[in-house]
Amino acid sequence: MAFLQFEGGRIHYVDKGEGPALLFLHAFPLSSAMWNKQANDLKDAWRVLAIDFPGFGKSDRLARPASMEAFAQVALALLDAAKVERAAVIGLSMGGYAAFELRAMAPGRVGALALCDTRATPDTPDGRKAREATARAVEEDGCAVLAERMLPNLVTPNAPPALKRDIEKLITENSPEGAAAALRAMALRKDFTGSLKDIDCPTLVLVGDHDTLTPPSDSQAMAQAIPGARFESVHGAGHLSNLENPKDYDAALRSFLDAHRARL
Ligand code: MLT
Repeated sequence: MAFLQFEGGRIHYVDKGEGPALLFLHAFPLSSAMWNKQANDLKDAWRVLAIDFPGFGKSDRLARPASMEAFAQVALALLDAAKVERAAVIGLSMGGYAAFELRAMAPGRVGALALCDTRATPDTPDGRKAREATARAVEEDGCAVLAERMLPNLVTPNAPPALKRDIEKLITENSPEGAAAALRAMALRKDFTGSLKDIDCPTLVLVGDHDTLTPPSDSQAMAQAIPGARFESVHGAGHLSNLENPKDYDAALRSFLDAHRARL
């Protein structure tokens, strides 16, 4: 098991395979374990790095309030620890929010970008209020509240019960304090809509064709705003498209990565 030190805490990460580096950033409220299938599928040709953001999985919480900037700094600290100058950054949903920050902070470290089931827009005022109410509920009753409230929106109604149980397990393994901190961090995230036009690395926008949280039409509009971006949808998948249809997700990602391998 691999850890790095960040501001006095331990951050857990996965490091598998050899080749140009891929940095996977997980969704809320999951952990690096949501990328297990991708890590196993891609490690034949790529070095797969996947981080547990602070307060998730096996990583300690931050001593300061969480923020998407801080999550991006932790991801950059992983690239430093792994001695990776440039990686393809793959962020799903909250991982995408952190990927926008990371690219803005250190564009030279991002050789290619995959924005999956995510959005560049910030929370609305009502959305922020709802985040705070959820954060309080999680602090009081634990992460089971998140599993109960979010699961119907994370996968389609057709998702196999075993997949739902696996996702529920990942959610409830997280610390309530870490999840609450991330909810408040997401509520304060920046609006990256205006800087989509400045993304100058190869970009893939990937979305489950049944994603109701970040719908395909919004993802398509985001792809259109990024110069030269490729847009693809994952058949029969909801928001957690990599988990619901890993075969098609991995095929789309691998084809994009293969096309840009020389940059990584
Ligand atoms: C996620 O999947 O990371 C969340 O749906 C993001 C969010 O709540 O905005």
